[in-house]
Amino acid sequence: MNIVVGISGGIAAYKAPMLVRLLIKAGHQVKCCCTEHALQFVTELTLETVSQNKVYTDLFSRANDHTTEHISLKDWADAMVVAPATANIIGKLASGIADDALSTLLVSMRKPLFLCPAMNTQMLECPSVVRNIEYLSSIGVHMIEAEEGELACGTSGKGRMAEPESIVAQMQQILTPRKAIKVLVTAGPTYERIDAVRFVGNFSTGKMGFALAEELASRGIEVTLVAGPTHLNISHPLVERIDVESARQMYEACTERFPQCQAAILSAAVADFRPAEVSDIKIKKQNDTDGMTINMVQNPDILATLGKMKKDNQRLVGFALETNNEIAHAQAKLNRKNLDFIVLNSLQDKGAGFGYDTNKVTILHRDGTITEGSLKSKRQVASDIADALEQSLTL
Ligand code: CTP
Repeated sequence: MNIVVGISGGIAAYKAPMLVRLLIKAGHQVKCCCTEHALQFVTELTLETVSQNKVYTDLFSRANDHTTEHISLKDWADAMVVAPATANIIGKLASGIADDALSTLLVSMRKPLFLCPAMNTQMLECPSVVRNIEYLSSIGVHMIEAEEGELACGTSGKGRMAEPESIVAQMQQILTPRKAIKVLVTAGPTYERIDAVRFVGNFSTGKMGFALAEELASRGIEVTLVAGPTHLNISHPLVERIDVESARQMYEACTERFPQCQAAILSAAVADFRPAEVSDIKIKKQNDTDGMTINMVQNPDILATLGKMKKDNQRLVGFALETNNEIAHAQAKLNRKNLDFIVLNSLQDKGAGFGYDTNKVTILHRDGTITEGSLKSKRQVASDIADALEQSLTL
């Protein structure tokens, strides 16, 4: 979506660049429109850099693309958010006053509009501000309520602008039309305990699975994300995150939830083996010379299990990480695990695989077609996989 971020002159303007970044990360295009006072708190250069677009501040600037810049922005936008929204800008919009770029744009905007009030508690409680907020809510403006906390004036109370993560989540909730589809996604590594302080793991970071969850949710698809240990965050109202540690925990979570889903995409790097015995206490060295042997047993294969559970109206997608004979191995995996398609990563490709922000995959379909991709961001790869899934769900 195209989103205009309006910024008015309050201290919370320092959070606006983070809001812009999060909106872009969620897959949106962003342009910023500021009041002159906003630029006392955040620089034009910062906003231009994070949004990768020029910043609109002046209705009459000779550098504008159009003489009626506010009209062009209202046509470009699919939605607009003002963060922070001061008492002043709220009052202007409620009264139809248009005397600078931001207020003029707001008065002409006919797309979903979100305001994030941020001001001192007494200002927020001022009867005319209360009336303005109530009036704007009554005509369909979405208010993202200010939160309680420490305020810039040194007092504490209601008036802090909502955090950028919360603003984005509340916007997505309203802006994303929901589809009646639920998809299970697995992501990240699994850790298999050896003793109280050690585990066997792998280098997966979960980036591909998290990008998939974000992409599907941005299309209005409900996602159950079962994640192994990872530092990644995700905040989308359509994503339910379930954190697990081991392959067996991931297996339990997936087999329990798959029957309620239309599809599953298993991108996790699940440990094939786990230590046969786990010590509750830290294993000590016996002497100065002896090594240590760990007996490993096989973990359940989640993908193969879901392949057996799969009903005709469900779709199942797996990943294959191969180093040699890639296509043949992936094809065999597709058949063996009863998949609809398989996403093949080759470790021979530079920039693909664990830890990178990019990936290069080949998709092998059940009917024998093979789609070879180029090196793309993980989010773009996620979009290709989501396209393939949505298409396969219509068959
Ligand atoms: N997978 C799984 N559960 C496991 C192991 C793997 O769900 N215990 C899933 C992965 O999430 C991935 C796919 O299976 O989608 C590919 O796993 P991989 O380890 O490459 O396949 P294997 O069948 O284990 O084959 P091999 O290790 O022999 O290559």
